[in-house]
Amino acid sequence: MILIIYAHPYPRHSHANQLLLEEIKDLPTVKIRSLYDLYPDFNIDIKAEQQAVEQADLVVFQHPLQWYGMPPLLKLWIDKVLEHGWAYGHDGNALQGKSCLWAVSSGGNEQHFELGSYPNFAALAQPLEATAIYCGMKWLPYFALHNTFTCDEVALRAGAQAYRQRLLQWQSTCQPQAGESSHG
Ligand SMILES: Cc1cc2nc3c(=O)[nH]c(=O)nc-3n(C[C@H](O)[C@H](O)[C@H](O)COP(=O)(O)O)c2cc1C
Repeated sequence: MILIIYAHPYPRHSHANQLLLEEIKDLPTVKIRSLYDLYPDFNIDIKAEQQAVEQADLVVFQHPLQWYGMPPLLKLWIDKVLEHGWAYGHDGNALQGKSCLWAVSSGGNEQHFELGSYPNFAALAQPLEATAIYCGMKWLPYFALHNTFTCDEVALRAGAQAYRQRLLQWQSTCQPQAGESSHG
């Protein structure tokens, strides 16, 4: 199962991320949890989130880039859900062996992140990458949809199709075969 942990502060106002979700939501193994719809009061149901993650083979963190980072509810989700004794520490192996994909949209174009003293995009990925690795997850090359401020509808839809292809490709190459445990 592919679990999309989706964090858009204003899901109804999203265009790029909404297109990404539209393109993948019919895939039978995809489950989407829209954090800002589920927890408008930021009162995260930790057990429900952990149960959803336990069923997943691939956990996707999808969000718009905000000030070079993630929206606050996703940061809170990580702080609350990745508990000691569950995600890490003694007997904390719930995430062990699962794959992790960062799927991010950005208003700026790709070159912006390579200019002057800006940290490049791979550097921006590092806090989430380190978190995933710390919890024993397999970090996949990130998926980025850049340039959402100025690119046209055709480019956005092509990006959404590329997202679908990434998930299908993961499914065909990495998903455990029938009868094989997904938790290793
Ligand atoms: C508060 C805020 C901060 C943002 N920070 C960045 C940023 O640091 N870099 C960037 O390229 N885009 C930034 N953006 C632009 C968003 O990433 C962009 O609008 C979003 O990816 C478009 O997706 P959507 O249509 O689903 O909202 C920011 C937008 C907001 C609202």
